[in-house]
Amino acid sequence: MKTKLLQIFEQYKGDYVSGATMSEQLNCSRTAIWKHIKELRNVGYEIHSSPGRGYKIVKKAEGVRPYEISLYKNTKKIGNELTYVESTDSTQRIAREKVAASVAEGHVIIANEQTKGRGRLGRTWYTTRDTSIAMSIILRPIIPPEHAPQLTLLTAVAVVRAIEKTTALQCDIKWPNDILINNKKVVGILTEMQAEADMVTAVMVGIGVNVNEQLRDIQDDITHIATSLALEKGVEISRAQLIASILAEFEQLYYLFLKEGFSVIRPLWEAHCTTIGSYIYAKTVQDERYGFVKGITEDGGLILVDENGDNHHIYSANIEIAHNKE
Ligand code: BTN
Repeated sequence: MKTKLLQIFEQYKGDYVSGATMSEQLNCSRTAIWKHIKELRNVGYEIHSSPGRGYKIVKKAEGVRPYEISLYKNTKKIGNELTYVESTDSTQRIAREKVAASVAEGHVIIANEQTKGRGRLGRTWYTTRDTSIAMSIILRPIIPPEHAPQLTLLTAVAVVRAIEKTTALQCDIKWPNDILINNKKVVGILTEMQAEADMVTAVMVGIGVNVNEQLRDIQDDITHIATSLALEKGVEISRAQLIASILAEFEQLYYLFLKEGFSVIRPLWEAHCTTIGSYIYAKTVQDERYGFVKGITEDGGLILVDENGDNHHIYSANIEIAHNKE
């Protein structure tokens, strides 16, 4: 109902819409319309009302509630079911509970604020209220567990495409899944999996995007390595629109991947990846290495050539670019 109400306001492009028009188009009473207007006001929409003329929106809330995302969403399965929470410790924790409750593939959890976001390698992911995207997508792919990391790379491609389409900013991927703009991180992706011996039972893809943060919102210790889309673009970005775009790009790539395998995703990922062709320092749990990155393996690992010319396949590491090939 609220999606339709917001659509009507969009159609009138900032003009007044009468209560009678709304109740006719939505097939409900004027009292019901008034109740929804009140609820929209409560979540931050500024709506003027004028006797005889009706209502007009003077300021949108730019939230990420299901009815705001539905305004832009055009996917069939991914995001068909949306769980929205105003604040949570981690959408990945909720995703785990939803998996245990047998929700369908494509269920998405979105939080307006995340207080203990989980990052890769046990790190913390900071998510500020009203400005970030913190979401988790639940998948139930029929793939062996060793192929699950490919979904991380696929997600990176989907998010890059969505950001480039929504903002026209150019993004780079740093292996395996950091998305950078002008060498600073704007997106983090964390893929967690549940599996039996030889088959995945569920994958939870967590996506965190710094969207409308200003410098004051970014933790002091990471301002040299982190940025937001708004800081790079100089204007605010609609989070709901970006989420809908991420879901659309993800859906397209995910079903292509299930049909054709990773070989179709790999070149798309490589085209954005700045790690390939660079000299890097890689710190894994067991050791640390310097070397030249020759490419990625079929299952998404880095192929690193050390100073002796020996190849190493790295699947989990913190990497730093030492310098480029040229
Ligand atoms: C990284 O370390 O780069 C990955 C960060 C992933 C953060 C996202 S935010 C939504 C989801 N919920 C979490 O707790 N983490 C992921």
